[in-house]
Amino acid sequence: MSLQTLEARDDNRRPPASELLEIVQRGLRAEPKQLPSWLFYDERGSQLFERICEQPEYYLTRAEIALMDTHAAEIAAVLGPDVRLVEYGSGNAIKTRLLLEHLASPVSYVPVEIASASLQASVQRLAAQFPTLPLQPLHTDFTRALRLPIPPRAPRRTILYFPGSTIGNFEQRDAVQLLRKMREEMGDAGGILVGADLKKDAATIEAAYNDRAGVTVDFTLNMLTRLNRELGSDFKLDTFRHRAHYNVLAGRIETHIVSTCAQKVRVGRMQANFAEGEAMLVEYSCKYSPSDFKALAAKAGLEVARVWFDPDVLFSVQYLVRKGQSSLL
Ligand code: AVJ
Repeated sequence: MSLQTLEARDDNRRPPASELLEIVQRGLRAEPKQLPSWLFYDERGSQLFERICEQPEYYLTRAEIALMDTHAAEIAAVLGPDVRLVEYGSGNAIKTRLLLEHLASPVSYVPVEIASASLQASVQRLAAQFPTLPLQPLHTDFTRALRLPIPPRAPRRTILYFPGSTIGNFEQRDAVQLLRKMREEMGDAGGILVGADLKKDAATIEAAYNDRAGVTVDFTLNMLTRLNRELGSDFKLDTFRHRAHYNVLAGRIETHIVSTCAQKVRVGRMQANFAEGEAMLVEYSCKYSPSDFKALAAKAGLEVARVWFDPDVLFSVQYLVRKGQSSLL
């Protein structure tokens, strides 16, 4: 393995503890209370998410892998040769591997990831699988403006790969803003390959976020464990529960942490009061029909050049280019 693969360019601006405290206190003062979903992903949270992906009810990961299994060759053909592949989050290496295997002479692979352990792990896996592929890991938060490393040779296009339906965690306004930022980063000839979970019957979706083994419950409540550890707060884990409901009208899973009793929680110098049954919003997971996604892309100055589905049509991968560029493909 080359040195380059071990040294991520470190633009890590993870909020220091004081900033974290402020973010959490602001969320607890809001009405209704809400906390950002990225707080799930400490080390244990990332492990629990990987276990969620293995649960029988959580169809998203299996569907996206089946999609890539079926269509990666065609996707790679559409992207063309000499691509620089930038991945938002370094996540599940299986999907990335399926894509890289089919790309013709990729220029480099740039995983962008805030969690340094995940970044290291995925870089090491890929270095072993693709020994000649230049790896340029970027240790930072992908919602910020990226300073991409200089590629080893000129790419024909920069493709921003954003698998996993992570875009679903962003409310419409924030998703548009993120897509606009990506549109800038990819340049005129670039494209975005983004995984989006599809609207389907509510029971299937709700089951995916309420697995029988209870891994999602642990994942959700781990956020409080994390805050207790990092902020010294005193959330009592056995007095809060997980609730994930599919809001059909809004087309999204809404995950809440619900207080089972009236209680006070200390967070820094602040005391947060919870009423019995009070719910704190911790995650949206938005679902899209193909036309929903087209409309979302359009708001960011993008158009859907191609879309692929898994064989069971549960999940989609959308290829977005700048408006007016799709005729030039
Ligand atoms: C990692 C954001 C795609 O929203 O489906 C899984 C996170 N939350 N179960 C999703 C999650 C609860 C997941 N994403």
